[in-house]
Amino acid sequence: MSQSATPAAHRGAWRNRWTFVLATAGSAIGLGNIWKFPYMTGANGGSAFVLVYLLCIALLGIPLMMCEIMLGRRAQRNPADAMAYLAREANASRQWRWVGLMGVLTGILILGFYSVIAGWVLDHIVRAANGAFHGIDGAGAKLQFEIFLAKPLELIFWHTLFLAVTMTVVSRGLNAGLEKASNIMMPSLFAIVLLMVGYSMAVGNFAESARFMFSPNFVLITPSVVLSALGHAFFTLSIGMGSVMVYGSYLGRHISIARTTLYIALTDTTIGLLVGLAIFSLVFANGLAPAAGPGLIFQTLPIAFGVMPAGDIMGMLFFILVAFAAWTSAISLVEPAIAWITENFSFTRKQATWVIGVTNWLLGAAVALSFNLWADIKLIAGLNLFDLLDKLTTNILLPAGGLAMALFAGYVMKTTHVAEELGLGPRTYALWRFAIRYVSPLAILSIFAYLFGWLS
Ligand code: PFF
Repeated sequence: MSQSATPAAHRGAWRNRWTFVLATAGSAIGLGNIWKFPYMTGANGGSAFVLVYLLCIALLGIPLMMCEIMLGRRAQRNPADAMAYLAREANASRQWRWVGLMGVLTGILILGFYSVIAGWVLDHIVRAANGAFHGIDGAGAKLQFEIFLAKPLELIFWHTLFLAVTMTVVSRGLNAGLEKASNIMMPSLFAIVLLMVGYSMAVGNFAESARFMFSPNFVLITPSVVLSALGHAFFTLSIGMGSVMVYGSYLGRHISIARTTLYIALTDTTIGLLVGLAIFSLVFANGLAPAAGPGLIFQTLPIAFGVMPAGDIMGMLFFILVAFAAWTSAISLVEPAIAWITENFSFTRKQATWVIGVTNWLLGAAVALSFNLWADIKLIAGLNLFDLLDKLTTNILLPAGGLAMALFAGYVMKTTHVAEELGLGPRTYALWRFAIRYVSPLAILSIFAYLFGWLS
């Protein structure tokens, strides 16, 4: 797909529409679906969280994802320069670039813990291969995971490996064969998740799991559940920090932003829900705690692999596919930073990759220690480094980025420009505009109002 008519013709471009869809789906589908969604659901009362989360995806997530792709495609620049360029086009202040800069920082902070958790996944590939899950029960799986978490050097080793592989791909740039791998890996992930659900139905307590996730329990919907669900909707769709914007910026003009967004949001949500059902079936059948926290999937899935025929191979395959999903997401986490550095300073892509790689290695090593040696070092509000990064990015920075983009597209940009770029029918456009101008800003602002105590 040629982009010679665009303002930055030297930049990469997606080979075709499918590549963009795969890359964006690859960004969206990751640890957020498989690791974070189950543990957030468990920690936030099950169905209360799921219900609000689904509403957030439909009412905020989808319109905002469309908004972010639209901004990127119109500007054809990295997020910071994209915002500055679009602001100029609308005769508004250049300071809008701070939205993009905040996204660059958010990506680095998220990767700070993302690569550590992805490291846990890598470790579990080896564990599965060694038959460590044979006949394991709930207590055994929990103990095995706790022993693993207590070893700082192992966590750092796996984090290093994951980050090195991610950065190697990042330094090569776009179109480097990743799409070919995605073509096979993503559908395989889907298939193995379905198999896991089947297995958990057989050996777990599926009815209780479905009840936990879907029977409406409105009393459990508290402001903090709403905040977590909103934040997770942003996290899982990769919106609010410019990842989707930067992917949109490599995109040609011929694709339907709305259709692509719907497709990605649907796939992303389905995977999360399926994994959740599998995990909670195992949780309830094995007397485990749904609110076990970030270790939840690592303390439950081994039980299923331990009893499944060919469980070692299935376990290995599952964790390999999860690692792959995490990898395609991690690449998108650093792309805003890399694009910003190479397009603003005289750095090559390789040099920029080193700068971010070293920064993230240090951050990730500190996060790894926050699960053991530094677990009791509370930084702010009683949170250790991992908890702080997780909460700060998911609950505050991503929604704040989304809010700013919604206000920008809804109130600052020229309506004709937005409409032209989105190419929607009149009725869909009106709906989208309503969501962007009123629903998203009001929802995000009221949650922030609660969070910062502005209301009391
Ligand atoms: N959406 C990814 C996941 O669910 O694992 C995480 C992520 C990637 C968040 C890229 C934000 C982002 F910009």
